[in-house]
Amino acid sequence: MIVIGGSSSVRLAREIAENLGCEFIQASTSRFPDGECYTKIEKEKLEGEVVIVQNTYPDGNLVEMLLIRDAAANLGAGKITMVVPYFGYARQDRLFKPGEPMSARVMCRILDAVCDRVVTIDLHKESTLDFFTHPHKDLKAAGAIADFFKGRGIDLVLAPDAGAAGRAEDVGKRMGVPHDHLKKTRLSGTEVRIAPAEMDCEGKNILIVDDMISTGGTIMAAAAALREAGALSVSVACTHGVFVGNALDKLNSSALSGVHCCNTLDSAASDISVAKIIAENLKGGCRCR
Ligand code: R5P
Repeated sequence: MIVIGGSSSVRLAREIAENLGCEFIQASTSRFPDGECYTKIEKEKLEGEVVIVQNTYPDGNLVEMLLIRDAAANLGAGKITMVVPYFGYARQDRLFKPGEPMSARVMCRILDAVCDRVVTIDLHKESTLDFFTHPHKDLKAAGAIADFFKGRGIDLVLAPDAGAAGRAEDVGKRMGVPHDHLKKTRLSGTEVRIAPAEMDCEGKNILIVDDMISTGGTIMAAAAALREAGALSVSVACTHGVFVGNALDKLNSSALSGVHCCNTLDSAASDISVAKIIAENLKGGCRCR
């Protein structure tokens, strides 16, 4: 097996290869003067299974992924596994209004067309997996998040909304602490309302877990509700730290005790690695469905 890293996932791809004890190649990617992507795999030939690690977000990274995949196939790669640490467009997984595309399904169809199997991590909704026809596996970052927070005095793990309740349960059970979820109403792309916390938060060190932080609106509102309810400290951990604009700065300068995310996207907060989880799955033949 050879692991090829795209430009969105250099550090993670290298770490996955280290965990697998296999060769790592960084695709050399640059841009033509008109902005089009150029990429090259510095290798005479490839054989056997090739794992390409690259996000589909932002849009340019999807094109880079497709080009790397073609370059790998041209060099003779046998089976191609695409590891997509952060799967863009996962939140547009249904038609919210007439006339819209089902973007998540479009992304799945593209991946189906270009590779033999797909590995994702904490897709926004499990149901998106139904759009794949090729073997696929959605891995969970809960184990890595729980390991990171074990021994850090967390009393309660909370999800900011019902949609993330299962993630809070998974992390809470692994840490051996109680879990629950808040009630969120989305008002717009940047605004959310979180209902006052009903659980006992008084004097507790609380960890909020979510699949992603984008604008940070959800986490800021959740943290405010928890402080209002008497929480002693509020930390946050998400799988995908998108941090649109200055979201990370805003979160870091808020009253949150810590902002942590997995290395599916690179940022100053991505200090939880999912490399081992991915490598173990690849080692085990993927255990796709
Ligand atoms: C929503 O259902 C997701 O799980 C996240 O809570 C949400 O996408 C985070 O977005 P933002 O940081 O912009 O509030």
